[in-house]
Amino acid sequence: MPLLRVHNLAMSLDGYVAGPHQGLENPLGVGGERLHEWAFATPSFHGGEGRAGDAAGERGVDDDVVRRGETGIGATLMGRNMFSPVRGPWPDESWRGWWGPNPPFHHPVVVLTHHPRPSLTMEGGTTFRFVDDPDRALDLAFDAADGQDVRLGGGARTVQLYLRAGRVDELHLALVPIFLGAGERLFDDLDGGPTGFTCAELVSSATVTHVRLVRTGPDGPAAPDGSAGRDAAAARDAGGDAS
Ligand SMILES: NC(=O)c1ccc[n+]([C@@H]2O[C@H](COP(=O)([O-])OP(=O)(O)OC[C@H]3O[C@@H](n4cnc5c(N)ncnc54)[C@H](OP(=O)(O)O)[C@@H]3O)[C@@H](O)[C@H]2O)c1
Repeated sequence: MPLLRVHNLAMSLDGYVAGPHQGLENPLGVGGERLHEWAFATPSFHGGEGRAGDAAGERGVDDDVVRRGETGIGATLMGRNMFSPVRGPWPDESWRGWWGPNPPFHHPVVVLTHHPRPSLTMEGGTTFRFVDDPDRALDLAFDAADGQDVRLGGGARTVQLYLRAGRVDELHLALVPIFLGAGERLFDDLDGGPTGFTCAELVSSATVTHVRLVRTGPDGPAAPDGSAGRDAAAARDAGGDAS
């Protein structure tokens, strides 16, 4: 059963995944770029393929997790503020995302917004579709993923929304040892916090600690071996692929 997976969601020690005052000059909010320096430093972030025969771990923990976030993903779902600094009704259709004509997704992307607009077809296989209902957005993303997993890209409010709904299967946080002091907090508005998650992996590089949580509560889909509850990632890893 395809999964809804969050990967490489970088969070400060005080719980922010973006700085305040997002705008054209600060897509990640003021100071938010510091959350991603570890990822920017990896070859995989820049599309590096690595050397033939590179084994897991050879290029470092951070590179491994960045790569894993792309594996077995057939579509991405994101909030409107991850797509755009524009708020409210779109003044026109000129904004086509932060990423230029050839965005790094190379698959269908569903953008959750109260202000739907016509879909966009970009170079390199990325499409953006704008949807105003969270359940429909998720259904469309899974349809578009065509049997593969869906990556829930962010930002904070969109991840919260699907956490509240109990729809997130895997949550990988990169804990960055900085304080932002203000911005978008991940674990707010959750009525007591996310429940039903187990830590499946805890590893650190020199710069960041990776926490991978998987949904193991009774609501979680059964593991392929039929056992109750599951460690989705462990089951997938055992099969050697995330799809
Ligand atoms: N640290 C990381 O790894 C990471 C990852 C991803 C993003 N980010 C950053 O996070 C920031 C964005 O996060 P955010 O929390 O401000 O926003 P967000 O989650 O990206 O988007 C929130 C927006 O989604 C739309 N939305 C939410 N619920 C909806 C619903 N039920 N129905 C229809 N539309 C709905 C609303 O847009 P409208 O009402 O305006 O349509 C809402 O303002 C950006 O700075 C981004 O760069 C960080």
